[in-house]
Amino acid sequence: MQRIGQLQSSRNAETRGGWSCFASHRQHVTDLLLGNATATDGTLCVLGAGNCNDLSLSRLLDTFTHIDLVDIDVEAVRSGIVRQNATPDKLTIRGGVDVTGVTHLMSEWTPEVPATDGQVDACISSALRLDSLPGAGTYSVAASVCLLSQLIESISLTLGEQHPRFLELLTCVRREHLRRLIDLVVPGGAAVLITDVVSSLTVPALATSSAAELPMLVGRAISERNFFSGMNPFVLKHLLETDEMLAPQVTDVRLSNPWVWDLGPRLYAVCALTAKRVS
Ligand SMILES: C[S@@+](CC[C@H](N)C(=O)[O-])C[C@H]1O[C@@H](n2cnc3c(N)ncnc32)[C@H](O)[C@@H]1O
Repeated sequence: MQRIGQLQSSRNAETRGGWSCFASHRQHVTDLLLGNATATDGTLCVLGAGNCNDLSLSRLLDTFTHIDLVDIDVEAVRSGIVRQNATPDKLTIRGGVDVTGVTHLMSEWTPEVPATDGQVDACISSALRLDSLPGAGTYSVAASVCLLSQLIESISLTLGEQHPRFLELLTCVRREHLRRLIDLVVPGGAAVLITDVVSSLTVPALATSSAAELPMLVGRAISERNFFSGMNPFVLKHLLETDEMLAPQVTDVRLSNPWVWDLGPRLYAVCALTAKRVS
């Protein structure tokens, strides 16, 4: 397996036992997905399902007739389903799927040996040429769960943030991710981007703040440029509302208040962007 795929698998192996500490985050994610269901006979697609510690599959299956779980790491999803004892015929594992289509190319690079312009060009054109994800246009809700930060981190670990074309590749991967997420949904359905913004490593007060204090705390961190590269939620919202390719496809773009995701050794501020696909 290529380097980035291996890294994701080893991280999933480390957090596999995190069911209990994920409880509050799982409730937020599950409530949000259920709140965006438009009917009781719809289907759900989750990108970045991983260990499924952030999904209450039984609650979701009370509303969604079928759930597709997509991840580069098939083992994480398999073991997540087993742990929840979920009904297998209502779930499809789409494992080994790289949602960017270019992780294998980036895995060849290291920040110490800069990728050439030709390599970055080839990576960008492959990312732009990638076909829609399986099941495109059929789901009533499609969600990306704390995946975008991993896609961007993959660029930091391979191309490196000092590379002159880092921002260009980040912008391309981020926009293509949003495009593919929206593509998955039927007209009138909902695209949900759940995303981690900053961690307790640089905002230690995440450990002690109340839910009421969080919007202010996270807002201050963002205004001080203290957030993960490419993950400013206000910029993501603006992209969905104004980008010439994305904006015509969505309406009713909303940004939630942040909540805290306890991953064990570290806490993350997470928020959700939701948008309806235009009919
Ligand atoms: C932070 S985890 C999400 C948490 C996960 N839902 C859970 O409950 O454990 C991000 C997930 O994205 C997956 N991932 C990272 N890069 C990916 C890619 N290029 N394509 C598909 N999945 C990817 C990882 O394997 C991981 O399972």
